[in-house]
Amino acid sequence: MTRRDFANRLAWAAAGVIVWSEAALAQRALVRADMPGDTVWLNANENPEGPGQAALEAMQEVMPRSWRYHYQEFGEFYATVARSEGFGREHVVVGAGSSEILSIAVGVFTSPSRPLIAAVPTFELPEGVARSLGHPVVRVPLADGYASDVKRMAAEAEKAGGGLIYLCNPNNPTSTITGKSDLAWLVSNLPSNTLLLLDEAYLHFSESPELETGLRYVREGKDVVVARTFSKIYGMAGLRIGFSLSKPELTRQMEPFRNSVISIVSARAAKAALVEAATLVPQRRAKLAKIRSGLCAWLRERNVKYLEPHANFVMIDLGREVTSVLPEMYRRGVAPGRPFPPLTNMMRVTIGTEAEMEKFKKTFAEVMSV
Ligand SMILES: Cc1ncc(COP(=O)(O)O)c(C=O)c1O
Repeated sequence: MTRRDFANRLAWAAAGVIVWSEAALAQRALVRADMPGDTVWLNANENPEGPGQAALEAMQEVMPRSWRYHYQEFGEFYATVARSEGFGREHVVVGAGSSEILSIAVGVFTSPSRPLIAAVPTFELPEGVARSLGHPVVRVPLADGYASDVKRMAAEAEKAGGGLIYLCNPNNPTSTITGKSDLAWLVSNLPSNTLLLLDEAYLHFSESPELETGLRYVREGKDVVVARTFSKIYGMAGLRIGFSLSKPELTRQMEPFRNSVISIVSARAAKAALVEAATLVPQRRAKLAKIRSGLCAWLRERNVKYLEPHANFVMIDLGREVTSVLPEMYRRGVAPGRPFPPLTNMMRVTIGTEAEMEKFKKTFAEVMSV
C-alpha cells in the first residue's frame, strides 16, 4: 500500500463512519431541547430487552481489567464470531457496529466508476458514505409489496459495467422483506464486476419462511458480503459490535480498513451472547412478535393502514405528512422515527416495551383522532 493509498483510506473512513450511523441519523433528526424527560424513544430500532444475563455478567467480570487493550484475545474472539455461523476466521470482519462494516464495504467496493446501487427508501448509511466519497449512487425504488426490485438492481449494475448492490433484508425503514426466490435470482444473475452487500441487521425478528439468510451464498463462494449486528436482537446497540461474513478474498480486501479493536467489554458481551443465542434469539423473536402483532391489531381496529412488518419496527400509513404529526407526538413525550422520503405519509415506529407501546397508542390515538 502506498502512502497516498493509506491517506485516501483514512479520509474515507473518517468521512463515512463518523456521520452516518443510525444513532447519528436519529440524533440529528431530533435535536430538540423541549422533549419531556420521560419521552419514550421509538426512533432508532433499539431493543429494550438489552443485553442478556450472560452478557451482563461477562461485562461485569471484565470491567476491572478494562485498562488493558486485550488485543491478545481478539483473534479468538473473531474466530468465535465466525464459528457462530459455521465459518472460519478468514471469512469474518468484526467492526464497531455493522455501521463500520457497511462503511468499509462501500469504501472498498465502490469507486468513481463503480456505483452503489440501493433501494429507495432503505437504510441511508451506504448511500451517505458513497456520496461523501464522491462515488455515484443509483437509486432503485422498491417494487410492489415493498420488496427490493432485484431485476432492476441487476440491470443497473449491468448498465454501469459493475457496481455494489446494497440490499437490506428485512428492509429499514419499511420492515418488509425480499423473498428467497428473488434473492436466489439476484445472486445467480449478478453482472460481472458486481457484488451484493446483504444487510441482515433485522433478520432474526422475522418469522416468515419467505425470508432466508444469504449465508448459503457466502458458503458457495459467491460475490456476497453478509452484514450482521449485535445491536438489534441481542439488544447491544450501545456496545457497538457488528460483523461481516464473506469469502476470504473479499474479507482480505475489507480487513485493513477496520478502525481498531473494539472494546473488550463489548467483545466479552458478544461472546457470552453467542453462547446463549440458541435460547435467547427465539425467545426474543416470539416476545417481539407478540407485542408487534398487538400493535398491528390495534391499528386494524382503527382502520389505520400499515406495512406488514418483519423487523422490530412498523411503518404506519398516516394518510398525511408525517411532519405534520411528529411535533405533537414529541410534545407529548413520544418519539417515533424521522421522515423517510419518499414515504413521507408514513411513520416508522420501533417496537418498545409493552408499557412504551401503551403510551405510543394513547398518544397516537389522541394526535391522529383514531
Ligand atoms: C439496516 C441497518 N443496518 C445497519 C445498522 C447499523 O447498526 P449498528 O451500527 O448498530 O450495527 C442499522 C441501524 O439501525 C440498520 O437499521
